[in-house]
Amino acid sequence: MISNTLEGAAIADALYDLLQSTEPLITALSNAAALLYVSLDRINWCGFYLFDGEKMVLGPFGGKPACTMIPLGKGVCGTAAAERRIIRVADVSEFPGHIACDPASRSEIVLPLILSDGRLFGVLDIDAPMKDRFSEADERDLTDVVVVLLGKIELIAKRTEDVWRML
Ligand code: SME
Repeated sequence: MISNTLEGAAIADALYDLLQSTEPLITALSNAAALLYVSLDRINWCGFYLFDGEKMVLGPFGGKPACTMIPLGKGVCGTAAAERRIIRVADVSEFPGHIACDPASRSEIVLPLILSDGRLFGVLDIDAPMKDRFSEADERDLTDVVVVLLGKIELIAKRTEDVWRML
């Protein structure tokens, strides 16, 4: 279980209901970050880094202020984005190049957000203040969350005809 307030699969359902394809992208991402931040237990940060064509830039999030820019291939976020794969880090001190935005973070999971046309949109990054917070089951639940997120992002992008037009 990834949460003590919502069961894992219920978070994806709640996100589906919460995010409206008629609203601006920044609105949907902000509410998504907020819902995940309050629904997941034992985490200290949860949010998005968005790919601007060159690097990862800080997007909507819950938690303490964080690093604003991460080069592609750097840190857990930049590596997950560059390699387009989920990275689950049991102990961040053992991940070479981990970027410590909040020294309280001990474990982390980063899921890439890849659009259906293959473009990298960004990553969902979740940090926890204890080691080994994220299980394989959590990874599966969060993969479902990402599927819902990408579905909404695609719908919004179709309406605005530009996925980067945030407002
Ligand atoms: N730890 C991340 C940086 C982002 S913060 O955790 C919010 C990384 O190594 O990419």
